[in-house]
Parts: sequence; structure tokens; C-alpha cells
Amino acid sequence: EKSGYDHYMLKEIHEQPSSLRQCLRGRIDELEGTVDLPELEAIDHDGPIQFVACGTSYHAALFGAERLRTSGVDAHAFLASEYASDRVPVDEDTLVVGVTQSGETADTLRALREADRAGATTLAVTNTVASSAARECDHTLYIRAGPEIGVAATKTFASQQLALALLAFELGDEPTRGELEALRDIPGQVQTVLETTDARAVAETFVDADAYFFVGRGYHYPVALEGALKMKEITYRHAEGFAAGELKHGPLALVTERTPVFAVVTGDGETARKTIGNVKEVEARDAPVVAITDGTSDVARYADHVLEIPAVDDLGASVLANVQLQLVAYWVANLLGRSIDKPRNLAKSVTVE
Ligand code: F6R
Repeated sequence: EKSGYDHYMLKEIHEQPSSLRQCLRGRIDELEGTVDLPELEAIDHDGPIQFVACGTSYHAALFGAERLRTSGVDAHAFLASEYASDRVPVDEDTLVVGVTQSGETADTLRALREADRAGATTLAVTNTVASSAARECDHTLYIRAGPEIGVAATKTFASQQLALALLAFELGDEPTRGELEALRDIPGQVQTVLETTDARAVAETFVDADAYFFVGRGYHYPVALEGALKMKEITYRHAEGFAAGELKHGPLALVTERTPVFAVVTGDGETARKTIGNVKEVEARDAPVVAITDGTSDVARYADHVLEIPAVDDLGASVLANVQLQLVAYWVANLLGRSIDKPRNLAKSVTVE
């Protein structure tokens, strides 16, 4: 059942090329240059879009909302548990998208029900056929990741990212051929990352660190949050993810030579340049820097270690960079002898609010 892997988590990390292909299968028509999601055809929507989700799925929701905003759509992600107390305005013109792997997370179901009561259209983006979210929402988009046994979400996060990228083409601008090809190529690039990664060596170097920090901008900001969440969950070590620009507004005080900073930097545009500026601030305080990068900028000059990914657009790069961070967390937990598939105090699906 674990197919020779020591843990389900490692197996599921390695399943990503095939689970991502499954997510895309039949949904990209390269001849026509279109995205084909018949399950969403009935949604005729040009109002605001609100994502509600928890934990890892919230990080995917942040990514999805940003992707939609690049098409000019008014889209925002909310923590499902805060949705009600945030008093988010919602009415008949709103599309509320619940991102939930299990389809059973109580906080997310509650937020979707509130949205439904306010007259919103609801959409479940889920992995689980006939789950509560799938049954209760007006529409459902399946991420088709296959069963995930490890409590820490890995392959389902990547499939949420791709499913939300597809969703953006359905609800936002039509795709260009280049964008479709870029999506199609992601599963193969994940395979390349799995075959070439140095994550284990990086984990060995930093297994005794005091804490682990993760920074990124744009699509890499949710990846920084997710990298830290994975690290916390399975290693029980202190880890935090920050928007790279926020470092200087407080977290920099935590940085020492015993706190590695993982920085996701891809491309060589404005976003990369700014994050490199933050990396230099960290380096000046003697913190070890691990750059997750495609090698197109000079960030490696300021980094102690590099985890390389193929050079692709930032959206695809966020999927690839996340795989590297999944592996770093896995190997740190493995070296510490943690209960990786069933971390203490955590359950796979959280059915209380
Ligand atoms: C982290 C993790 C949790 C879930 C969260 C939401 O690895 O698995 O943070 O992402 O409990 O679960 P779903 O997606 O089932 O709603």
C-alpha cells in the first residue's frame, strides 16, 4: 500500500506528477485552445468571488484568488473560521468557493451555508466525491488527486492549485496557447524536481535549527505559508511563513545564525528583485539562506543552499517550489523520527468548529 515508501506522505509527494495529470485530464483542449470544465458551464457569473477554506486549503485559496485577480476578477480568500465574524459582505451576486480536500471541514461547511443563506452561488472545490461540500453546494469541481492518507496535505494542495488555475480560465480571461502549454507541462516538471531535489541534504544541514522561516511574494507568499505549516505539523518545530516584505516589519528580530530562511525567488523581474533585497537583509544578519529558485536571477549569490526548480512562469513555479518545501519538511521530520503520517494532536478531517 505504501508502494515501498516508508510513509504515505512520501508516497503521496511522489504521486504528484500522476495526480496532477489526472486533475488536468480532458480539461485542456489544446487544439481549440480552451479549458473544458462542463461542471462549471452553468455558472453565469461576473460578480465578486470569495474563497473560504482552512489550513493548507486556505493557502491554495490565496493562490486561486490572486490568480483570478490577474484576470481583473474581484476575488479574495477568507479563513472559513473567520468568515462570519469578518462580516464579509455577501449577496446574490457573489460566488463563494469552498476549497476543501475532504469536503467535511466544519468551518468551511459553515461558511458555505452562511453564504448560501445570503443568496450566494456556492461552488465546492474538493477531492471527495459525494462529500458534504459536494452535496450541499450548487456546483462542484473535483480536484481528482486520489485518496490522501497522510494527515499532512501534499498532493491535494498541488491539485487544488491546478484546479484553481483551470477555474480562473473558466471564470476570468480565456487562456492563451502558451498558458495552456505551461499548465500541461507542470506534472512533468514536478517529476524533474522529484528526480533532482537536494531537499534531503538541506534537511540534514538544518535538522538542529532553532526555527525555520519561509518567505515569498505574490504566488510564492502562499507557498511560504504552506512551507511553514508543513514544517510545523510534521516536525513539531517552530516555523513561520511571511510575506517577504513583512520581514523588516518585525520578524527580522527573530532571525539568527540558527534560523534558516527559505526564500522562494523565481524569474528575474520586479518581484524577484524585491525578494532578493529581503534575502540580503537576512544574510547581513548571518542567517543561513536556502533559495528555492529557477536560476534566472542572481539570488544564489546570497544563498548558502539552493533548491533548484525548472524555469517556468511564477504560477507554475509556485507548484514546483512547494514540492521542494514538502520534501524538506518530510526529511527533517524523518531525521527527527516523528510520526509523519499521523502527527500528534491532528486529524485528517476536522469536523468541529
Ligand atoms: C494541513 C492540513 C490541514 C487541512 C485543513 C483543511 O496539512 O491538512 O490544514 O488543509 O484542515 O482541510 P480540508 O481541505 O479537508 O478542508
